[in-house]
Amino acid sequence: MYEHIDDSWICGRYGEDEPWMSGAVNPPVFENSLFTFPTANALADGLAAEDENYVYSRGTNPTVDVLQRKIAALERAERAKCFASGMGAIAATISSLVSAGDQVIVVGAVYGPTTQFLRYLEKFGVSHTTVHTDNPAVLDSVVTTRSRVLYLESPSYMRYGVIDLRAFAGWARGRGLTTVMDNTWATPIFQKPLTMGVDLVVHSLSKYIGGHSDLVGGVVAGPSRLIRPLALTEYQLYGAALSAHEAAKAIKGLRTLPVRMPAHQERGLRVAEFLVKHPAIRAVNHPGLPGHPGHELARAQMTGFSSVFSLELDTEDITEVARFVDALRHFRIGVSWGGFESLVSAPALTTQESVRATMGIPVGLVRLSVGLEDADTLVADLAEALATS
Ligand SMILES: Cc1ncc(COP(=O)(O)O)c(C=O)c1O
Repeated sequence: MYEHIDDSWICGRYGEDEPWMSGAVNPPVFENSLFTFPTANALADGLAAEDENYVYSRGTNPTVDVLQRKIAALERAERAKCFASGMGAIAATISSLVSAGDQVIVVGAVYGPTTQFLRYLEKFGVSHTTVHTDNPAVLDSVVTTRSRVLYLESPSYMRYGVIDLRAFAGWARGRGLTTVMDNTWATPIFQKPLTMGVDLVVHSLSKYIGGHSDLVGGVVAGPSRLIRPLALTEYQLYGAALSAHEAAKAIKGLRTLPVRMPAHQERGLRVAEFLVKHPAIRAVNHPGLPGHPGHELARAQMTGFSSVFSLELDTEDITEVARFVDALRHFRIGVSWGGFESLVSAPALTTQESVRATMGIPVGLVRLSVGLEDADTLVADLAEALATS
């Protein structure tokens, strides 16, 4: 479908050759809640296929459509639908695939609020089972006739383990489950899960794709037969619509995504290579390091590595973790990731112990999002914090 298009073209002009663009280099921001029709019958026709016609911006908007075309092309998908947040996309996607009595199978650690959402679905009679395994055959022991969705993130949340996408998606397809994957970490620049058998890809646009920590958004991409029903139902009814303004910012973010990702990769690896040799560090969970257990698999299914990863301080003492984090000067303390600025967060200080235990996160685990500052400066910052804390 997209064989002859390269990603930088998609991030640039692709999807923008509309008559209303009038040669503009940036798509206009359609600040319209509604769109009018010449006749009453034309409005009726518009409403009959509201996912394809501009009727009301809770459903469709031309600026958002430009972004959707680009993300669909980057993910090699037929179609994409953008949401007001990554969680909006994840919640709508899972909801669209399950009914009361159904089960979702989760492989490995996934973003905390995704798990919270799956727990929330229990009140509607939808269960979930989390399995930590490298071997899809293990899932045979939990699959039932009511299993509908296989949900995963690769690299996985906080520990950055690599999941064999072809193997797990193949297992799911053979049993009639839809595989949904969160591809926020790698971005479509470095990983294209649909080409490996995954059915639907979800993203938080708030991270690398936006790239400037100035927007919150989400997207799901996949075949029309799965996107259309959710565009007409969950998108319209939950009301988590992406605004034209946020879409325009994400389009600007996409312009530089193909050059930002290799720069993040280079800086992230520089920092990880420094940390892995440091005596105060027990482990560095970065799939780009040759010593990482998922490194070879990662190289087989990704073309690069982003710059969010975790280190494990050699301590069980939460106050030592806090001292280290507070000693950093260039890494600022905050949630989220994927922008210019380097960030640090420590789950031991922010996440309940019971939740950490189920995710296998040790006290000393610290997450870094390596930004686009000079790598030497970041390494020096970490060296100093490790020496003084
Ligand atoms: C891996 C991952 N997926 C999804 C989300 C949710 O995205 P949003 O914050 O845009 O709702 C996040 C946010 O931190 C995330 O880290």
